[in-house]
Amino acid sequence: MERKPFYITTPIFYPSDRLHIGHAYCTTIADSVARYKRLAGYDVFFLTGSDEHGQKIQRKAQENKVTPIEYVDKIVASFKQLWDKLNISHDDFIRTTENRHREVVQALFQKIYDQGDIYKASYEGWYCTPCETFWVERQLTDGKCPDCGRPVEMVQEESYFFRMSKYQDRLLKYIEENPHFIQPTSRRNEMINFIKGGLEDLCVSRTTFDWGIPVPFDTKHVVYVWFDALTNYITAAGYLHDRDKFSRYWPADIHLVGKEIVRFHSIIWPIILMAMGVELPKMVYGHGWLVVEGDKMSKSKGNVIDPIQLIDEFGADAIRYFLLREITLGMDGNFSREALISRINADLANDLGNLLHRTLNMIGRFNHGVIEAPGQAEAVDHELMKLAQETSADYERLMEGMDINAAIKQLWTLISRTNKYIDETAPWALAKDAEKKSRLNTVLYNLAETLRIVCILISPFMPNTAPKIWQQLGIETDFAAVTLNDAQGWGRLLPGIKVAKPEPIFPRIEEKPAAEETKAAEIKQPAQAAAIVTPATPEITIDDFAKMDLRVAKVLAAEKVKGADKLLTLTVDLGTEQRTIVSGIAKHYAPEQLVGQNVVMIVNLKPAKIRGIESRGMVLAASCDEKLTVVTAPDMPAGSKVK
Ligand code: MSP
Repeated sequence: MERKPFYITTPIFYPSDRLHIGHAYCTTIADSVARYKRLAGYDVFFLTGSDEHGQKIQRKAQENKVTPIEYVDKIVASFKQLWDKLNISHDDFIRTTENRHREVVQALFQKIYDQGDIYKASYEGWYCTPCETFWVERQLTDGKCPDCGRPVEMVQEESYFFRMSKYQDRLLKYIEENPHFIQPTSRRNEMINFIKGGLEDLCVSRTTFDWGIPVPFDTKHVVYVWFDALTNYITAAGYLHDRDKFSRYWPADIHLVGKEIVRFHSIIWPIILMAMGVELPKMVYGHGWLVVEGDKMSKSKGNVIDPIQLIDEFGADAIRYFLLREITLGMDGNFSREALISRINADLANDLGNLLHRTLNMIGRFNHGVIEAPGQAEAVDHELMKLAQETSADYERLMEGMDINAAIKQLWTLISRTNKYIDETAPWALAKDAEKKSRLNTVLYNLAETLRIVCILISPFMPNTAPKIWQQLGIETDFAAVTLNDAQGWGRLLPGIKVAKPEPIFPRIEEKPAAEETKAAEIKQPAQAAAIVTPATPEITIDDFAKMDLRVAKVLAAEKVKGADKLLTLTVDLGTEQRTIVSGIAKHYAPEQLVGQNVVMIVNLKPAKIRGIESRGMVLAASCDEKLTVVTAPDMPAGSKVK
């Protein structure tokens, strides 16, 4: 079947400096949309690149005593390295210094000049070099750039002007007739007001520096950097050079840009295209800004977050997940290390990681690692199946509407429900009774099937993790060939496959803020020392000690005891038998942290009923003040004697 084309772009980034986490945010959104569209069967063309000309870059190169191209070559290499580490799946990376681009910009400039929409005049006004933007006096805020608040420079030059004013009414009509052209709606309203305020003709050449594309018929001038930059979107789509490609992908479906550059994309760019007689892009989507502890990132504030360091520390998928989950598209969002770690621990290690680990562990222990065919479904199973199917339908609707954040939330509702399904169906109890084998198979199949669906749906956001889950589930089909359709409809998982050994996909991050750690150490040291040296109990003989039967026990399952925030019920394997014990360690351990651990327990302790559950044994733990650690014997088989 013919696949529909879909063309999405990021802005092209200035290689004046290395990129920070805010830039990575923008590209992660575009990448997730591109991946989602591929999954949904589209023929996607995803473009990113670098915006290499302009006064700012020329000055930076001078400061560094290198030529502009030497300067940008190095920084552009770091962009590519970042996109590689973040697993960005762009199909092309355009550099505005490439010949293919220079040819297009010069052809455009020439055509618009020939038709009389570019004319020469003298320019006198204000210029913001960091933003590469012209302003008239009335637009300044307290004499500074209204966008970035930095000082502007007075520029007096003989320049070429683009007759934007001529197109004002046509553009306004177009925006009004195409409600989806500028998104979200708040940005659309801003743009309508801006245009209604009156469009000035735009100065589109500079003579005071030469790092740019020369005006073809007057080489003292270089083309204004925004005129040059915006054109990248048609260069890469094949304008002038590849007619078939251009007619396939143009007009672009989405130009995804930061909110402060929506104006360039929804006013200057459409007017350039109108003047050229080229169709306008279908949508300009303005996303919000990522701020750090509520503050804009800047070198002078020293709060710039390096995405490479974060990826090295936490992995690309955790960073991608955080950015997409934490920030509602279109709104500003906050980055903090604490919020990142808390998302990793709660959503990835606990909810998703735990679901996978528990499921594979149980299939391994109870069914020799084989996903058996399900038996008769009960009400609780139907509920899970219905939710899984509703989730994939909602997901598609939300992703089509660019509501990435809500799509992720929806997926996590399914993940949490599935974790609860484990607690409700208690497969460890079913496994004890041979007559319940069919029920056990049903539950384990349903868990694996839900994970298969979740795995497909998270793949646009977490492209490294999804194939790992797929592999651990033991599914043989190539994950690269999976489609959105495979996540729609229940029961596509073929029974009889063997799952792999569970490997943690997101280890928990244990970190206390540095300040708190030092404080805790200072306060606790004397108390700890006292606890160690004070003999607390009367002497016993070796025979007394020998009365205790201490053994290594493998934790098969763990869950919270309802209504008791300190208690966990553990199902443990002693080599010869399985037991249930209730342990007062819930404040120190999440259930999933214990599953798979070889703990030490006393097995001949008199059974006790705790909250109605018979506890047969006790897990040993070391404790001091608020701290508690369960005693483990990681490499010893279950049942080994401890003496
Ligand atoms: N070169 C122009 C774009 C030309 S597109 C034809 C440019 N470059 S930029 O490097 O300054 O910014 C690129 C993108 O990064 C913009 O969309 C901008 O909004 C985005 N971001 C820069 N800092 C950001 C945050 N802190 N948060 C989110 N996005 C941010 O503008």
